[in-house]
Amino acid sequence: MVTKTALITGASSGIGQAFAEELATCHTHLILVARSHDKLYRLAKQLQEKTSIHVEVIVQDLTEPQAAQKVYDRVQDKGLSVDLLINNAGFGDYGPFAERDLSRQLEMIQLNVTVLVELTHLFLSEMQQRGEGSIINVASLAGFQALPYLSTYSATKAFVLSFTEALWAENKDKGIKCLALCPGPTESNFFEAARFPQSFENKNNSSLTSAEEVVRDALNALDNHKSNVVTGKIMNNLIVNASRLFPREFLLNAIEKQFKPN
Ligand SMILES: NC(=O)c1ccc[n+]([C@@H]2O[C@H](COP(=O)([O-])OP(=O)(O)OC[C@H]3O[C@@H](n4cnc5c(N)ncnc54)[C@H](OP(=O)(O)O)[C@@H]3O)[C@@H](O)[C@H]2O)c1
Repeated sequence: MVTKTALITGASSGIGQAFAEELATCHTHLILVARSHDKLYRLAKQLQEKTSIHVEVIVQDLTEPQAAQKVYDRVQDKGLSVDLLINNAGFGDYGPFAERDLSRQLEMIQLNVTVLVELTHLFLSEMQQRGEGSIINVASLAGFQALPYLSTYSATKAFVLSFTEALWAENKDKGIKCLALCPGPTESNFFEAARFPQSFENKNNSSLTSAEEVVRDALNALDNHKSNVVTGKIMNNLIVNASRLFPREFLLNAIEKQFKPN
């Protein structure tokens, strides 16, 4: 399928920016959404200079009330239709749950889950009417396995994985592709935004995959009508399958030791 217009949330850095750069090289028009005005406009200018695509920028904090509807309305006002929706914006928050700020946990659920459901609902209805379209929801390796000290985050990603796989099955015969993208640790601003200590980042640097590789694997999986894709090192696939081989408490204890703050 030749994609005409893609809307990417969280396009100002990391995986979202890599999606924008890769899709621009495939001549896909773009709608970039995030909070960082300057980063979005800089990226839009750079992509438009390199290619002949049209890039719209929507500066929006997606945790604000009615944010998804506002994004949808802006797209309608500009007379655009979205062929590929990439629900990518998201963040984590590292540390013992009871010690973390509750409002940040709720904001995370709002961004990682509620807004993703809202945008999917708004744009999927249109895609169904047209009989074509694609949705990539960015879940995580964490969607397959509860992570102590990232408890709310891994729960949001389990939701995204389950939700998206169900939509894949509902829509596979309607000309619509739905993919749960499940990256393992990836080079981006994620670890800083989640407030991981530098020592944790340094220890795990070698297991990081580039955002570009994640995006290439995702677009291949979408082309191949997959319901989900685990990207990154081979170890990531082993982690997914570990939950089938080992008792749940065994894995939880092992991860708790690895993730425990010093
Ligand atoms: N990096 C990893 O290891 C990894 C692994 C698995 C899954 N993921 C998932 O991949 C997705 C992208 O993350 P990333 O790794 O690329 O991290 P990132 O570099 O921190 O990017 C996060 C993006 O989300 C946007 N965002 C954050 N809060 C927002 C808000 N309130 N409203 C609108 N946009 C907001 C940020 O833009 P602004 O700050 O400009 O708003 C940024 O563009 C996330 O869903 C993350 O959970 C990442």
